[in-house]
Amino acid sequence: MSVMQEMMTIVSQKEVAKSIFEMVLTGKMVDELGDAGQFLHLKVPVEGMLLRRPISISSWDKEKASCTILYRAGDETTGTYALSTLTAGQKLDVLGPLGHGFPVSEIKSGEKIVLVGGGIGVPPLYELAKQLNQQAYDITVLLGFASENVKILEEAFAKLQHVKVKVVTDDGTYGQKGHVGLLMNQLDFEPDAVYSCGAPAMLKAVYHKYEGLDRLYISTEARMACGVGACYACVIHTKDDPDGKSGHTLKVCEDGPVFKGGEIVL
Ligand SMILES: Cc1cc2nc3c(=O)[nH]c(=O)nc-3n(C[C@H](O)[C@H](O)[C@H](O)COP(=O)(O)OP(=O)(O)OC[C@H]3O[C@@H](n4cnc5c(N)ncnc54)[C@H](O)[C@@H]3O)c2cc1C
Ligand code: FES
Repeated sequence: MSVMQEMMTIVSQKEVAKSIFEMVLTGKMVDELGDAGQFLHLKVPVEGMLLRRPISISSWDKEKASCTILYRAGDETTGTYALSTLTAGQKLDVLGPLGHGFPVSEIKSGEKIVLVGGGIGVPPLYELAKQLNQQAYDITVLLGFASENVKILEEAFAKLQHVKVKVVTDDGTYGQKGHVGLLMNQLDFEPDAVYSCGAPAMLKAVYHKYEGLDRLYISTEARMACGVGACYACVIHTKDDPDGKSGHTLKVCEDGPVFKGGEIVL
C-alpha cells in the first residue's frame, strides 16, 4: 500500500442523516485500500483553509474503483460544510490512504466478534464488518447515536449475512434509551475480539470493560496537521509512558488511528 495524492472525482454526495453527508469518490487510490479503519486527508475547497480534514473510509468497491466516506458537516464557517457543498463530477484533492486500520487476519470462523460504534465513529466499522463477514459467522454490532435523526448505516450492517445489529439512542428516539455501555452489559457471552470507534467517552467505556482482552482494537481521534507522521500534532500516550515523560509517544496519524487496547492510555 502506498500513500498517494490524487484529484479524485466525486461520484455522488447526499445528506443521509441530519448534517451527515455520504460522499462517493472514484480514483486510482481505491486500488491501494486494504485495511478498514484507514483514513483520507481531504483538502478543503476554500482558500486559506490550509489544514486537511481527516475522514475515515467507510467502505469501498474495487471493481468500480470507488470508495465512500460519511462525515458530519459543521456550521457554515467549517471546512466540512464547504466539503458538503461539492457535487457529482467535481474534483477533490485527497491524500491517502493513511494510517493503520483494523487487523482481521487472526479472526477464525468460530470466534465471537463484537464491534462497538458511536455517532460519526460508526462509518469505518462498516468496511470492517464487510471484511469480517467473509471469515467469521458470529458478529455482533452495537451502535449508539445521540438521536434517531443522526442514525446511520444500521440497514447496511443488517444486510451482512453473519451480522446482528443492536442500536441505542441517548434520547430513546430509536431502540433502547441509553449509551452503548448498556448494550455491552447485556451481552451474554465473552467476545474473542472487540473493535471500537467513537467518541472519547465511549472508547473509555469499551477500553475499561475489555481491558484484559488481547484482541481489543480501538480507533482513536486527534487533531491533525500533516497527517503523515512529520509534525507530531497528534501524539497519544502509551501504557509504558503514561505521562509522556520519557517521550515514548505514538502518533495517531501514522502509528494509528487503530491501536491495541494494551498499547495506549485513554
Ligand atoms: C483518524 C480520524 C478519522 C475521522 N473520521 C471521521 C469520519 O469518518 N467522519 C466524521 O464526520 N469525522 C471524522 N473525523 C473527525 C473530523 O476529522 C473532524 O470532525 C473534522 O476535521 C472537523 O473539521 P471541520 O472543518 O468541521 O471543523 P473546524 O472547526 O473548521 O476545524 C478546525 C480544525 O480542527 C480540526 N478538528 C476539528 N474537530 C476535529 C476532530 N474531532 N478530530 C480531528 N480534528 C478535528 C480540523 O481538522 C481542522 O484542522 C475523524 C478524525 C480523525 C482524526
Ligand atoms: S498529524 Fe502530523 S504527525 Fe500526526
